[in-house]
Amino acid sequence: MSLENDLLLRVARGEKTERPPVWVMRQAGRILSEYRATRAKAGSFIGLVKNPELAAEVTIQPVDILGVDAAIIFSDILVVPEAMGLPYQMDEGKGPFFPKTIQTMEDVTALNQSNIEDHLTYVTEAIHNTLHGLQGRVPLIGFAGAPWTIFCYMVEGKGSKEFSLARKMLIQQPMLAQSLLTKITDATIVYMNAQINAGIHLFQLFDSWAGVLNAELYEKMILPHVSRIINAAPKNIPTTFFAKGGYYAAKSIQKLSCNVIGLDWNMEAQWAKDHFADKTLQGNLDPAILYGSDDSIRLATEKMLSDFKGHPHIANLGHGVYPDIDPKKLKIFIETIQKS
Ligand code: CP3
Repeated sequence: MSLENDLLLRVARGEKTERPPVWVMRQAGRILSEYRATRAKAGSFIGLVKNPELAAEVTIQPVDILGVDAAIIFSDILVVPEAMGLPYQMDEGKGPFFPKTIQTMEDVTALNQSNIEDHLTYVTEAIHNTLHGLQGRVPLIGFAGAPWTIFCYMVEGKGSKEFSLARKMLIQQPMLAQSLLTKITDATIVYMNAQINAGIHLFQLFDSWAGVLNAELYEKMILPHVSRIINAAPKNIPTTFFAKGGYYAAKSIQKLSCNVIGLDWNMEAQWAKDHFADKTLQGNLDPAILYGSDDSIRLATEKMLSDFKGHPHIANLGHGVYPDIDPKKLKIFIETIQKS
């Protein structure tokens, strides 16, 4: 099906467009009362993730309500460890929790590697339903967590500021760490291709905890896995790599064959244009700006647009929208971009 609005895909390929497309990380989430109502119907966050009809419904909500130029499939990066045999819980206000974690080679060996896609049919079904519901209005983004970020949760078992247990394994047991990273990478490639076969238009890899590593570790131990995933995507599907806090590894991130680089709000536009000259850039308004006045949001958004002017740019926040942001404020951000 041809797309009514394909701004995202044209910019991702580096083409000049009439204006930058805009979507927002966590656009399908708690900021929308409609999302909270659908989640209540599903019973829980995981119940919603696993319900292909309701997951499609919340995926489409931000397109209808906020008018964004792309949808992102409603799911979570933690569905991959679950498919590998490590189930997670999501407790309101506490974030993800894994009752069982990976500590030894036996734990890695026991992980499931076969039929990963069969454990994730609820996602591919949600993609089918979403494409049907969207009727070609905007492109649909698929995603997965990058190997390091998934590793962090599988080893640590929950969120953390420093992920020191995960980093300890990388340093003290590099062979064990590499076996786990390789298994995560293999599963992620299968999962990515299942999403692509189901019809997503662009694939984004989230390395949310890149910021806790250092250049040498990231380049030697992590990026080869990222590269393997990106290289496994068919060339007709654009890819985005978002390494939050990964500015220190820009030189080697630049060498990845992805089309788009996601930027957090600490990464300056000029710095990004210089370091990623041949890539489309995505981001990067500080999500906290949306706590400000309407005028201050307009001003900051216009400044962001002018900072990226002349370079292929997908407008977004520098990380997910905070759940207590008023959707009206987010709408000001979106409309400022769409009027530009
Ligand atoms: O709209 C979208 O962006 C698509 C949906 C999406 C979710 N998670 C839904 C979700 C996406 C792309 C993710 C990715 C994800 N999940 C990441 C990478 C992106 C990032 O934010 O850095 C990470 C690290 C996770 C793991 C995870 N899931 C965390 C840390 C949390 C937060 C827990 C909390 O209470 O805030 C989640 C839960 C989660 N995933 C929510 C949503 C909408 C919030 C729970 C809810 O609304 O019920």
